[in-house]
Amino acid sequence: MQCATCTGPVNIAVIKYWGKRNEKLILPLNSSVSVTLHQNELRTKTTIAASPNFTKDQIWLNGVEEDINNSRLQAVISAVKRRARKRKSDGETNPRLNWKLHIVSENNFPTAAGLASSAAGYGCLVYTLAKLLNVKGELSDIARQGSGSACRSVYGGFVTWDKGTNEDGSDSKARQIAPHTHWPELSVLILVVSDQTKHTSSTAGMQTTVETSELLKQRLSGLQTKEDQMTDAIMNKDFKTFAEITMKESNQLHAYNNIHEDVKVSYTFDAGPNACLFMLDSEVPRFYSLVKHFFLPENGHTTIQGLPITEQTLHT
Ligand code: PMV
Repeated sequence: MQCATCTGPVNIAVIKYWGKRNEKLILPLNSSVSVTLHQNELRTKTTIAASPNFTKDQIWLNGVEEDINNSRLQAVISAVKRRARKRKSDGETNPRLNWKLHIVSENNFPTAAGLASSAAGYGCLVYTLAKLLNVKGELSDIARQGSGSACRSVYGGFVTWDKGTNEDGSDSKARQIAPHTHWPELSVLILVVSDQTKHTSSTAGMQTTVETSELLKQRLSGLQTKEDQMTDAIMNKDFKTFAEITMKESNQLHAYNNIHEDVKVSYTFDAGPNACLFMLDSEVPRFYSLVKHFFLPENGHTTIQGLPITEQTLHT
């Protein structure tokens, strides 16, 4: 039996991916930008075993067996295996490629609650399988086929997912724009106010938006400028611009909020109710004590985590 275990981090989008131009290949309507969190905090841990004695592929997520025939799971497993076969074109055969897989994945944070669990999950699954089958090189285009945002979790620090223009998706992949060490003063608090599965999946929400929203067309027409401004803000460590664009992006998914002159903290929400808050580390103690005051741990579902951004170091 061969085995590999990796951990993988979540990433929080500050320019959101919302809407697909190709559902099957998961090709987005727009490029997006994100921050990858420290993998020791919110993370997925995945172990994959391959054995000639296993009779079928199986997957367990947080201790519960899931359907291995799920089309996205199948897409990423086949894509990693295809790449492994390509590497073996020298004639050498890798018996592990024909062995059945047992995949065990667990998150240390609420799953499907709008906290990027699918990003960490698929990013980690693809990375772990690649380790097991000795596949090297670009993996973000494969992770993308599991969950779009997962392509960004393959890199640490500040990451862009270029939407690409090719029909086959070959140029729709992520790249790091700056490592975590670039802006160590930037902190993020994740406020978990609900660990319930969100009512509408990102996939369903995006579909409805693409079919019905007038705002989407308008959003897309100005987005390249916003993305450039966000990249510049990150490169220049310009927190005010970073915070403003982050909140505007979140607002387009949710509701309107005024931006004050002296911005100390910015929020962003993905598809669920849980808040991700960006601030400079000088603000963390003051803000954290405020949050503790209003969101007491005894309230039940509420947990608060301070997360320094550090490099993702997936390991076996
Ligand atoms: O990767 P998906 O299909 O779970 O979609 C993620 C969408 C958002 O989290 C709302 C935004 C983003 O860019 O991560």
